[in-house]
Parts: sequence; C-alpha cells; structure tokens
Amino acid sequence: MTINLLPMATQDLLWQVTRNPAAKTDAERAELLKDPGFGKVFTDHMVDICWSEKGGWHRPRVQAYGPISLDPAAAVLHYAQEIFEGLKAYRHADGSVWSFRPDQNAARMQRSARRLALPELPTEYFIESLKQLVAVDAAWVPNQDEASLYLRPFMFAKEAFLGVRPAAKVNYYLIASPAGAYFSGGITPLEIWLSTKFTRAGHGGMGQAKTGGNYASSLVAQAEAYENGCQQVLFLDAEEGTYLEELGGMNVVLLTRDKKLITPDSDSILEGITLASIMQLATDRGYTVEQRRVSLAEWRDGVESGDIVEAFACGTAAVITPIAVLRNNDIEIRMPDVADVDRVSLSLREELTGIQYGRVADRHGWLVKLSA
Ligand SMILES: Cc1ncc(COP(=O)(O)O)c(C=O)c1O
Repeated sequence: MTINLLPMATQDLLWQVTRNPAAKTDAERAELLKDPGFGKVFTDHMVDICWSEKGGWHRPRVQAYGPISLDPAAAVLHYAQEIFEGLKAYRHADGSVWSFRPDQNAARMQRSARRLALPELPTEYFIESLKQLVAVDAAWVPNQDEASLYLRPFMFAKEAFLGVRPAAKVNYYLIASPAGAYFSGGITPLEIWLSTKFTRAGHGGMGQAKTGGNYASSLVAQAEAYENGCQQVLFLDAEEGTYLEELGGMNVVLLTRDKKLITPDSDSILEGITLASIMQLATDRGYTVEQRRVSLAEWRDGVESGDIVEAFACGTAAVITPIAVLRNNDIEIRMPDVADVDRVSLSLREELTGIQYGRVADRHGWLVKLSA
C-alpha cells in the first residue's frame, strides 16, 4: 500500500491517495469491461471529502472502493438529506480521458446543496475529485464505441443526530462505474407511460434538485410504466396535470417541422446538461429554441396537424432517444414513423456524442481533460 500526498490545484487542500491493495488484476478488469452493463461494476477506488460546520471541507482522500460505515442515527437514513450528480468520462482515440461540461454538474450540485441545506462543494474541488479518481482508475475507462466511465458524485448528512435540522457533518464521495453502450444493436424508440396518478415534484418542492427523494417518488410510477410495457414514465405538473414536466430520469423535447425545438420550462424539473447542450447545438443549426410551458394538448394537436414531427428524451445515460409513443389507458400520442437517417434527434445525437468522444470539434469548449 502506498500513500502519496499530492498537492491539490485548489488553495489549501492536500489529497491523500491510498492505493487499493486488493485492486483487480489486468485480466480481472478486462473480463469485467467486456460487458459492464450499467451501474453494476465499480472501479478499485473512490473519493471521500469531509465537511464539518467548524472545519469546512477537509481531508480529501482517494482510497479503496468499499463500504461506508454509518452510525444508525446518521441523519441521511432518517431525513434523506442527500444529493448526487451523474456524468461520464470518455476515452478519445489517442487514449486521453475527458469529461463533458463538469463545471455544469458542479454548479447543479451547488444548487441542489442549497435546496437541501447541504454545504456547497466548490467547483474546483469537484473537478479535482474527478481528476484524482481518474488518475488512479484510468484503466477502467472503456474504449469501446459509446462506452464510458460513469462518474457518480454524491453527498449526504453523516451526523448522528435525530433532531430535524441541517446536519453539521457531511461527506462528499465520488465513485465510478464502467458503462457499456446504452443501446447495443441500434437505437429503439421509447414507449412512454403517461402518469396521471402520480406526480414527481411540485411548485416550491425539490424537483430542480438532484436528490434521492425525487427518484424514490418516481419508482411506483416507473413500475406502472413497466407493467404496461413502457420503458419510461412521463410526469405532468402537480398543480393542474396539464403541462409536461419530464421523464423519471430524462428531459423531454418536441421538434416541429418549421425548425422549432420546444421543451418544458418549470421550477420542478431537473435542469439537464444534455438538454442545455442540445439547445445550443440546435440553435447553431438555425433552430428556434422555446423553453416554456408545454401542454399535453399542444403535443397531441401538433402531432395530429403534422406540426410536431419528432419527440425525444435526453439525459447523460442514453444521450438522446426518440419517442415512439406516449400512452396510458385514456390517451395515445403516436409519433410519425421517421426513418433513422431523417431523424433530427439522431443527427443531434451524432453531433453531441461526436464532441464527447473527440470525433467532432469542440467549438463551445465543453470538454475538460481528466487524464492524458
Ligand atoms: C430526472 C432527470 N431529469 C433529467 C435528467 C437529464 O440531466 P442530464 O442531461 O444532466 O443528465 C436526469 C439525469 O440524467 C434526471 O435524472
């Protein structure tokens, strides 16, 4: 076991790096990387940074991946004071490893932290944590087409105290999980279940924060989607049940034949980084981008009149996936059948993944190098 003290790019934090003595061998890792799926295989190391009310952020460490020891009274187990992020590390053809707009994930984590009364991790610490982990686990970044190393930063209330108040002790962690291509054997358009029984988040709630509670609240609706043969669930606004919000884990976008990209604006949905990037790429192509309230009726009528020609879901995991149909027991909106080569959504997907994997020029300066 080796211990190095590496100076951190940021002012006063000194990183302690302890190598995992039981790290996988090259052969074991190669076997796991053959077909990693999603979220099942983890790398040899993880990052842990402590925070306390008195000491602020301190003791940043890279250590062996393994269980976290928690007091049974740890606040997170009782009051769910927790947030997380999700982004990917991509291997380019020259072997270097890059992340896509990690400053945006850092900023979103800070917004989530403010909503959940957690401390804000400065952007430079966030990005340094990615670099530190990838420095020791670079061999885990797959090099197959569309495969990546999924990075999962998270933070939670560790203080052992049963009173309901913001915790005075919090930890930030970063774990990493190799992920295979989301679609092997071609992209299949999604069938989406429209939930009218459940909502995800309401006005003034936590919908804009990436916090576990929002995902817990989506599980029964997602289960209903599966039971009805759909892969994802779409939520409507909690107040009226009239306007589109988002899917369980992706944003939703409509495209019109007169080159408009329309996506819901709401204070109860997650501000997707994939969505923001697609809005930029579409603007570059001369599309008008409208982020505003979008009713279910507008979608239905637009498809009927031929104005709305494509619908798609977007997020870090699957990038962009066309939507084939939105349905429940009372409604069905079936999108026109468009050949893959004619789908604007798939051409935007090609451009975005091209930038992420270094095949297309990064004209907006979105990529950040994590390892040479
Ligand atoms: C609820 C929800 N909406 C939208 C998104 C898309 O966000 P991003 O593009 O930053 O991954 C995600 C995460 O992927 C999500 O969990």
